[in-house]
Amino acid sequence: MRMYDIIAKKRDGGELSDEEIQFFINGYVSGEIPDYQVSSLLMAIYFQGMTDRETASLTMCMAKSGEMVDLSSIDGIKVDKHSTGGVGDKTTLIISPIVASLGVRVAKMSGRGLGHTGGTVDKMESIPGMQTSIDREKFFDIVRKVGVSVIGQSGNLVPADKKLYALRDVTATIESIPLIASSIMSKKIAAGSDCILLDVKTGSGAFMKTVDDSIKLAQAMVAIGEHVGRKTIALITDMDRPLGNAIGNSLEIMEVCDTLKGHGPEDLTEICIELAANMLYLAGKGDLAECKKLARRQIDNGEAFAKLKEMVAAQGGDTRVLDDSANFPQAKIAYEVLAQSEGYLYAMNTERCGISSVELGAGREKKEDSIDYSAGIMLRKKIGDYVKKGDVIAVFYTSEEGKCKEAEKIFQSAVSIRPEAPKSVPVIHARVT
Ligand code: URA
Repeated sequence: MRMYDIIAKKRDGGELSDEEIQFFINGYVSGEIPDYQVSSLLMAIYFQGMTDRETASLTMCMAKSGEMVDLSSIDGIKVDKHSTGGVGDKTTLIISPIVASLGVRVAKMSGRGLGHTGGTVDKMESIPGMQTSIDREKFFDIVRKVGVSVIGQSGNLVPADKKLYALRDVTATIESIPLIASSIMSKKIAAGSDCILLDVKTGSGAFMKTVDDSIKLAQAMVAIGEHVGRKTIALITDMDRPLGNAIGNSLEIMEVCDTLKGHGPEDLTEICIELAANMLYLAGKGDLAECKKLARRQIDNGEAFAKLKEMVAAQGGDTRVLDDSANFPQAKIAYEVLAQSEGYLYAMNTERCGISSVELGAGREKKEDSIDYSAGIMLRKKIGDYVKKGDVIAVFYTSEEGKCKEAEKIFQSAVSIRPEAPKSVPVIHARVT
């Protein structure tokens, strides 16, 4: 087999066989096939697309390029969840304890934030003592005893994706649905759970900017799940506004606790009930309406919050910050951002809100940057609220006052205030099964 022929076949619109896909993935990971040939194939895939069978085959070859986590020593159904990333997205830390408190196992590997989006691992590490680098046996043990553990990505998981993603990043081939779908699903499949819930974000703060594109991506990922025998559902959820009121690591953990105690922001609570209900549905806990009731009940009876505390304690975290947010290290500076005119808060460019919080120290621009865990933004007004000039629309938290002016410039450029009220937008746009 020759890589040249595989490139030419895809260039001319042909369908690659499983053997051809395996040849290219194995050859690329081993270093026998050079970047320039793989770049050509990626560009051919970008233009010609892939059938569902080709995409599933590519996904499995990528998943098998490294360690495949075997969760079979943990009893019960294991359900994983993936979000395509957003601003203020702390849902993993709310829904995982909800479903674990009902006996559904969650053995989850999460990522760090990069660019304008936050990462679950960074949020968790804002809890003093919390460990997110845990060896496999201890990770499994926590899942067996507590029912849930969330850790950072570890081990040699999907090396093919690491190489391919880095190459796509510099060859303008990121925005291809089969390549995105296989990249995400290969990591979920290698992580070993029986069922997968996908939260595909859509809007100005998301990777996919339109609902139509988000649905296409969701359909491709659900089709892969079906092909390889993992029950998969996707929800298309709104990211045209930050999720909840908190953006920034310890601020988001405080909001996680508020939500699990039953007094979180409405949009965040609604999305979490939907996501948790779909995880419960995947695990066979009932129909969707019953699962929603179950999820809400676990918040109301305090069992979901108790489960979060159990997980944090098992991973070495100080649970006193969960009981009382005043126990978190506090930011030195609180800086009020004021409305510059009167009217309805009409839109918030979510990507720019995320960049503003990175400017305050809540995120990193480069992988090696460090994070100020107490930095971030608390929104005091949300889209649809009526504001007077001079009303506080947000409060910035940071340890360096000098950062506030630039962050405010970015934030103000994200906000639009108009005389007319905005149309109301659902938090869930679609469900793909
Ligand atoms: N996230 C991933 O993991 N892979 C992609 O290709 C795009 C987003």
